[in-house]
Amino acid sequence: MDKIIIEGGFELQGEVSISGAKNAALPIMAATILADGTTRLTNLPALRDINTISALLRHMGAQIETSNGAAEIRADGLDNPDAPYDLVKTMRASALVLGPLLARHGRARVSLPGGCAIGPRPIDLHLKALEAMGAEIVLEHGYVNAEAPHGLRAADFSFDQVTVTGTENIMMAAALTQGRTILRNSAREPEVVDLARALNAMGARISGAGSDAIIIDGVTSLKAVEYQIMPDRIETGTFMVAAGLTRGRITLKNAPVECIGAIRKKLEQAGLTIHIEGRDVRVQGPDRIVSTDVKTEPYPGFPTDMQAQFMALMTVGTGLSVITETIFENRFMHVSELKRMGADIRLEGNTALINAVPHLSGAPVMATDLRASASLVLAGLGATGLTELSRVYHIDRGYEKIEQKLSAVGARIRRIKD
Ligand code: UD1
Repeated sequence: MDKIIIEGGFELQGEVSISGAKNAALPIMAATILADGTTRLTNLPALRDINTISALLRHMGAQIETSNGAAEIRADGLDNPDAPYDLVKTMRASALVLGPLLARHGRARVSLPGGCAIGPRPIDLHLKALEAMGAEIVLEHGYVNAEAPHGLRAADFSFDQVTVTGTENIMMAAALTQGRTILRNSAREPEVVDLARALNAMGARISGAGSDAIIIDGVTSLKAVEYQIMPDRIETGTFMVAAGLTRGRITLKNAPVECIGAIRKKLEQAGLTIHIEGRDVRVQGPDRIVSTDVKTEPYPGFPTDMQAQFMALMTVGTGLSVITETIFENRFMHVSELKRMGADIRLEGNTALINAVPHLSGAPVMATDLRASASLVLAGLGATGLTELSRVYHIDRGYEKIEQKLSAVGARIRRIKD
């Protein structure tokens, strides 16, 4: 397995170009199932999760051609609406094909995602909403077998809990379901808005995306279009922390400036200087990092996908910070690894108490999930000495060319192929 080796302690300077958002690209690729013709997507990030959903769409019968950050996807003639365990187990977001398949083909067979490192992450709310739309769902042999032989019907549905992919799944199903569907307590994440924009470009009639009530007036068909994926706010936040930990000065080009408010606010409290000019974010790391409390929340709150990276920042400096994780019950896998680098962190339930230390020291560490890996890379950049990160396949799920992007701004980072 590949390893990433980081020699810490170098100030980062320069420009980083932000890639397309993974969490917008995945549902929009699933949405191509709904469109007649060949959809062209641009600003697609080169990531393992994108390869996984491409493999899944191909497995079901779609034709996909990719070149240089773009993909042409024809998924209107699928003959095999089946998402097998081997593909779903590596990426829970595979469940995003369920809604489109049911709406378009009246049936779907999707493996249950099962547990993952950061908690059980069920899809029960997706299923409950689809049942409210008339789907007949049977769980057997580890699979969701869903049918809507007479088509889905519009519904007024309220999610018990905010779920991002749940909102997206049902929004896609409702786009091609006659009548008015109203989704309440829906996720307000920018990626939900990007999906709604893509669907509307295809001819859907969706309003309210970005609020907690989304109204979808179903249409009979959607047409393929060309669509540009929004830039990635979590990649943006991760590079902002990199500047913070190295007293660096980085400009992030083509960043999603309108949706990084909560990240910006917390990083400013932590001492970073941040300026936004057009679509660029200029970040300068402080001489001294200020301990700052954070609680993760659904958008527009502070994102759980930035929690591990923010914790890496909080390990260094002076003072005490409290990080509370409210979205996923077990998302502190990075803590034990950060401690191996000298961090002083105590866990109490869903809260981490971080006593900042003057500096971390490089150590061999292991990635356990996508954002935990990012946090360890960041910690390594700020630490003294060498950090050796193993199981880096996690980071390849969600960060495009991370070593190249960091090297280009002066980081001493390299990958050792195994
Ligand atoms: C999405 C993001 C992920 C992010 C997460 C929270 C994608 C591809 N992934 O994941 O990066 O960390 O949002 O912002 O967009 N839940 C249930 N039942 C359900 C669905 C969810 O109990 O049917 C719970 C989950 O266990 C979790 C919470 O709801 O505790 C939020 O999860 P959810 O928003 O669904 O996360 P994902 O959509 O899987």
